Amino acid sequence: MATGPRPAAGFPLARPRRLRRTPALRRLVADVRPHPADLVLPMFVKEGVPEPVPVASMPGVAQHTRDSLRKAAAAAAEAGVGGIILFGVPAVKDARGSSADDPDGIVQLAIADLVAEVGGDVVVMADLCLDEYTDHGHCGLLTESGDVDNDATLERYASIALAQARAGVQVVAPSGMMDGQVGAIRAALDGAGFTDLPVLAYSAKYASAFYGPFRDAAECAPQFGDRAGYQQDPARSAAEALREVALDLAEGADAVMVKPALAYLDVLRAVADAVDVPVAAYQVSGEYAMVEAAAAAGWVDRERVIDETLTAIRRAGADIILTYWATEVATRLARG
Ligand code: PBG
Repeated sequence: MATGPRPAAGFPLARPRRLRRTPALRRLVADVRPHPADLVLPMFVKEGVPEPVPVASMPGVAQHTRDSLRKAAAAAAEAGVGGIILFGVPAVKDARGSSADDPDGIVQLAIADLVAEVGGDVVVMADLCLDEYTDHGHCGLLTESGDVDNDATLERYASIALAQARAGVQVVAPSGMMDGQVGAIRAALDGAGFTDLPVLAYSAKYASAFYGPFRDAAECAPQFGDRAGYQQDPARSAAEALREVALDLAEGADAVMVKPALAYLDVLRAVADAVDVPVAAYQVSGEYAMVEAAAAAGWVDRERVIDETLTAIRRAGADIILTYWATEVATRLARG
């Protein structure tokens, strides 16, 4: 039998509010915290421009020159971000995406620049896909009828992986959602001696309208059709994502990704519960643009909304978060 004073009748014994009373108490009991080292900054580098080009639909984001890219990467490293993921925007595109695996292509040059500039402190990753490099804007080679040819595309991806590896990339991140892409890339890398180069697979990537602003940033909007024939349908439950993840792990993926983040927190949680490899989540361009637009209109508190979204992504199980706010947030976190 409990002894001692008892609460007067009608008063609650349990009061969750006790631990919320002061900032110090809240800080003490908080257990979901984004950390700078877990943030990855996506960056765009554009060939043949004298100055960085602002991305209109992503205020604060630019298509960098090689020079401005180096400087922005140094700032990210200074802020303590854990990684950078690079997207190349070539001056010339063709049906095969030739510049994607050209040793002198913009992305390969920029990889080497970044590895030299920050590669000792920050993990230099590259997105591995064709859509930024093809004139038709699809993530693979096309058949005569205009379908994306899965298996012919795998050969291109294998070649791109080798070009990025030779440029010194520290993680490759295939994002094209072709079946068998991780296995094809792993085999190519291993065959050329890059057995230690990790693959971060965009495993559960949905055909999302939240990629809208990215297609400006990377100049890769499909010239016809859409990506629904290869990216996942948002209307399917998380079981499909788990299957994609399992296939990628069986093919040798070292870490997996869910993308986009905020509209797919259920998928993120399911994946985080199912696997024991690091799980990344990509807070994509549309997620960024919506917050920036609402904040610019004075409708939401920008910093609080940013932090709340990152906390939510973390709480849903992400070990690694790709976000265009990485440098800003890492700086703020470091200040406490
Ligand atoms: C494909 C790729 C895309 C994004 C990352 N990699 C575009 C797409 O699949 O259409 C989107 C990222 C974002 O929206 O921030 N290379």
